[in-house]
Amino acid sequence: MAEKSSRGLADVVAATTSISDIDGEQGRLFYRGYDIHDIAQRISFEECVHLLQRGTLPTRQELDGLTADLAEDRRIGATTEALLPHVIRSGAPMEALRTLVSSLSVDDADAADSSIEADRRKATRLVAQMPILVARYEAARNGRDVAGLHPELGIAGNFLQQITGERPAERAVEIFDACLVLHADHTMNASTFTARVIAATLSDIHSAITGAMGALRGPLHGGANEAVMKTLSSIEGGVDEVDGFVRAELDAGRKLMGFGHRVYKTEDPRATHLRKMSEELAELTGNRRYYDFSRRMEQVVFDSKGLYPNVDFYAASVYYALGIPTDLFTPVFAISRMSGWTAHVIEQHEDNRLIRPASEYTGPRDQRWVEISQR
Ligand code: CMC
Repeated sequence: MAEKSSRGLADVVAATTSISDIDGEQGRLFYRGYDIHDIAQRISFEECVHLLQRGTLPTRQELDGLTADLAEDRRIGATTEALLPHVIRSGAPMEALRTLVSSLSVDDADAADSSIEADRRKATRLVAQMPILVARYEAARNGRDVAGLHPELGIAGNFLQQITGERPAERAVEIFDACLVLHADHTMNASTFTARVIAATLSDIHSAITGAMGALRGPLHGGANEAVMKTLSSIEGGVDEVDGFVRAELDAGRKLMGFGHRVYKTEDPRATHLRKMSEELAELTGNRRYYDFSRRMEQVVFDSKGLYPNVDFYAASVYYALGIPTDLFTPVFAISRMSGWTAHVIEQHEDNRLIRPASEYTGPRDQRWVEISQR
């Protein structure tokens, strides 16, 4: 008989990994042994991709090689191109992008090959394609073309340029690049676990990533950043309205998105960086409204419930200030997390065992079958 279950698999160790680690008591996060506080705002997203997927911070030569691979791999296949005008009709970016990501395998030369070498090639390709897909989606729904790519801008700068249609300020690019690094991996979160479960059946990387996209979409996971922005923008009046709003939500038994975490018992270290970035962008743009609302909300939620903000809370006001549409916040999370997901699929395939947990049965036993006419 199975052991007693852990609700939501809390504290269950589901895999071994050397990709990232969290100390929930101390509020620390490590990528391949590097403290996030040491590398956030010091390494580019491209360096982070190398670190997660290939195991080390790249040398200059390795980074040049990866940058060239990423530039080469951005191409979107004909099948995905053909699907784009159809999926924009749903009006739900994560639904559309989940479908587009799935379709990428159709034109991928390595689709039928799940060797580690092919996984690595597909992993780089997926990281390169994801920001292009989001930018193409945004352009298509607005009936315009995307701006051409600039090699000197990298993934962060090119994405901002394609989304806003304007050459981004240097500091905006640095901040967005750091956001991509901060969201890149986070141990056995729901979407990464989903990707690993799928990969562990020896299914292919596109299937694993499509499943991960579905898991990320939910408001308890990556969908929280969009929900935070909707919350902030729904508060009418000034900052003094925040207290009443928060208390009314909590009194009604509703959760406030962007707060709480399964693992962190103290501040999420990613939130520490994002709070500072949100403040800096508030100064730079001259619009402090959502930063001020966020600060007040953080205080009231902590005083009322003892909850800390998680990564999604200040990401909302940061992305807003960078000019990213609210319904693209979760797709932006996916652009970054693609690096972690793909690293986990490779790691799973390198040392695979089917992931098949047990369940605790709570239904009736010893039922007797009766004729349908007697039921
Ligand atoms: N607002 C109000 N109460 C909360 C919140 C919140 N955001 N988070 C947790 N609680 C309360 C919850 O109501 C429960 O109280 P009680 O014991 O009285 O019933 C208690 O804290 C434990 O909550 P839980 O939902 O059982 O905890 P969990 O570990 O299962 O959930 C969580 C973690 C992140 C899903 C949860 O904190 C939550 O729903 N937060 C809001 C959604 C969110 O911001 N998600 C992003 C997570 S971090 C980044 C990411 O993965 O994308």
